[in-house]
Amino acid sequence: MRKYRKREHIENYLRSSYTGSPLFDDVMLMHNSLPECDFYEVDTSTMFLNKKINFPLMINAMTGGSDFTEDINRDLSKIAKEFNLPMAVGSQTIALEDKDAIKSFKIVRDNMKDGIVLGNLSGRATIDEAKFAVEMIGADGLQIHLNPAQELAMEEGDRTFRGILTNIEKIVSSLDVPVIVKEVGFGMSKDVVKKLYDIGVRIVDVSGYGGTNFMEVENLRNPENDLSELYSWGIPTAMSVIGAKSLGLDDLQIISSGGVKNSLDVVKSIVIGADMVAISGEILSYLVHGGYEYTMQYLAGLIYKTKIVMTLTGAKNIEELKESKYLITGKLQDLLCGCESK
Ligand code: FNR
Repeated sequence: MRKYRKREHIENYLRSSYTGSPLFDDVMLMHNSLPECDFYEVDTSTMFLNKKINFPLMINAMTGGSDFTEDINRDLSKIAKEFNLPMAVGSQTIALEDKDAIKSFKIVRDNMKDGIVLGNLSGRATIDEAKFAVEMIGADGLQIHLNPAQELAMEEGDRTFRGILTNIEKIVSSLDVPVIVKEVGFGMSKDVVKKLYDIGVRIVDVSGYGGTNFMEVENLRNPENDLSELYSWGIPTAMSVIGAKSLGLDDLQIISSGGVKNSLDVVKSIVIGADMVAISGEILSYLVHGGYEYTMQYLAGLIYKTKIVMTLTGAKNIEELKESKYLITGKLQDLLCGCESK
């Protein structure tokens, strides 16, 4: 069942058509006509989980568990290794039940060598399951996904959501590697981020609204139960990142994901407060529709264009980029004003 669901997620993502916005368009960066910075000196490297990476982007959790998804994990991990970017595997729950599924996740570690690989489980995982998932792939960190909206959109999904925070607290205090708590495309409010921080989580991936839409992806599996009026549910990525940053927690790392497609999305994510950026659906589309080489070209182009934008903001490195000025316009401004009034 789970194996087929994983394949359906990919197929349904590729045929989904609802387009929300992560609201990066409502973030305006300041053009600098006097950059005092040469294109060739722009350094996009950064530190993540105590390792140096070439660019602040990671390939986010998607898949594993079958031969079909193993092929995707093989290609994605080769690409991640080529660019020295971190990669997260998809939910390993399937490999807790079916030992044959393990190899589709292990392939990622094999290809990545000493690169950064993240495991992935749900907030219901036991401590033993969490440890097993980490060992399975020699993970540098474990992602725990929060996905109540996705579960509710699934006919066979969970309907009970109590106790997850307490369970995550136990996982955080029992593992030797960092826990990253992530959404799956519906965004995290700043209240949720603060609750996670208070139980010891120091890395959150807001995975906001505006990219992959699991309300639609799941609904395409059971179209007779029309959920289309809920396709607009979620907190746009830009709003989630700004909210998390506004908490002013110096030791909290924020990952911006949800609808990241191009160089401007990456740069704007960093400027508004993210330490890292992550991408899922868009890179999957490139891989499935265009193949390995085309995906490599896409990423090379994205990095090249990021350097252009960094030069034009006068930022020589990621730390300077974080200090860049920006303006908030349109719907994002309205939403953030609305937050303040409550
Ligand atoms: C996902 N995502 C996901 N997340 C997770 O934590 N565990 C998982 O197993 C999966 N599986 C999965 C399958 C497919 C096909 C997609 C496209 C996505 C969610 C993903 O990590 C990310 O949070 C969202 O997709 C939002 O980012 P994008 O796709 O808009 O860049």
